[in-house]
Amino acid sequence: MARHFVLNTGAKIPSVGLGTWQAEPGVVGNAVYAAVKAGYRHIDCAQIYANEKEIGFALKKVFDEGIIKRQDIFITSKLWCTNHAPEDVPVALDSTLHDLQTDYVDLYLVHWPIRMKKGTGFGGENVIPADIPATWAAMEKLHESGKARAIGVSNFSSKKLEDLLAVARVPPAVDQVECHPVWQQTKLREFCTSKGIHLSAYSPLGSPGTFKAGNVLAHPVVISTAEKLGKTPAQVALRWGIQMEHSVLPKSTREERITANLDVYDWSIPEELFVKFSEIEQAKASETVFTFSLLGFFA
Ligand code: A2P
Repeated sequence: MARHFVLNTGAKIPSVGLGTWQAEPGVVGNAVYAAVKAGYRHIDCAQIYANEKEIGFALKKVFDEGIIKRQDIFITSKLWCTNHAPEDVPVALDSTLHDLQTDYVDLYLVHWPIRMKKGTGFGGENVIPADIPATWAAMEKLHESGKARAIGVSNFSSKKLEDLLAVARVPPAVDQVECHPVWQQTKLREFCTSKGIHLSAYSPLGSPGTFKAGNVLAHPVVISTAEKLGKTPAQVALRWGIQMEHSVLPKSTREERITANLDVYDWSIPEELFVKFSEIEQAKASETVFTFSLLGFFA
């Protein structure tokens, strides 16, 4: 089964990546190091997570120790909402590249279709009208410069993607959104497939313990599938995602979970169990995520 998917740029995106949101400095470096040693070849970062410096040191360590080379790993980062002004876009990427100690990212995403005043923190009063075409033109320049080998978006609806496609010279390679068995993104997935945009799933485990709406690991369909296959609910949730043909970005800072979350390749969910996932009642958590973030939840 696919260890990677192919983007519309021709590049390969590994189907499992380590998510790094909320992984604190002091912890995230060890998680990245453990993940690479366990076989992860995809790390999902963002400037707003405030831990790219430490991730950069961990990556330097794995390169220095000869565990892998830079070209063996797929690194994603994201443009924060306060840096949407075209002149701020290259500055933001340069800062990320500096922190990650690399001269390119494999994928650079517009983190949200939402713009905030430069230099401000979270808070609804800081939101200003977005100008996605202008921001995207600046992203395209980064792509042309080679500093962002692919460009894409995150948290974009089908409508927002459609608007972007109408003006883009370089179409987005990826839309990274919340996606798991309890929020399957059926409409967006169909749209992305029809336009050759790869869907990448954050919160593929439904962020257990954080958001009630995404109670994925406790869902009866997930649990019964796990029991039948002798796997954990987390492995089933991730494997479901890969079989749906999207990449998954589970977060963990515990070595044993990091390792277990990569055990999704040499088995599969058989068709008769897989179909049951399409009957799961859907509940979205991401609006909650952003509301929380505006309230300073992860400031
Ligand atoms: P921890 O870091 O203590 O492992 P998501 O990626 O859907 O947002 O979920 C992330 C959350 O899921 C983290 O709180 C992480 O906690 C927890 N988690 C990660 N892997 C597993 C797993 N295999 N089983 C249960 N919880 C997990």
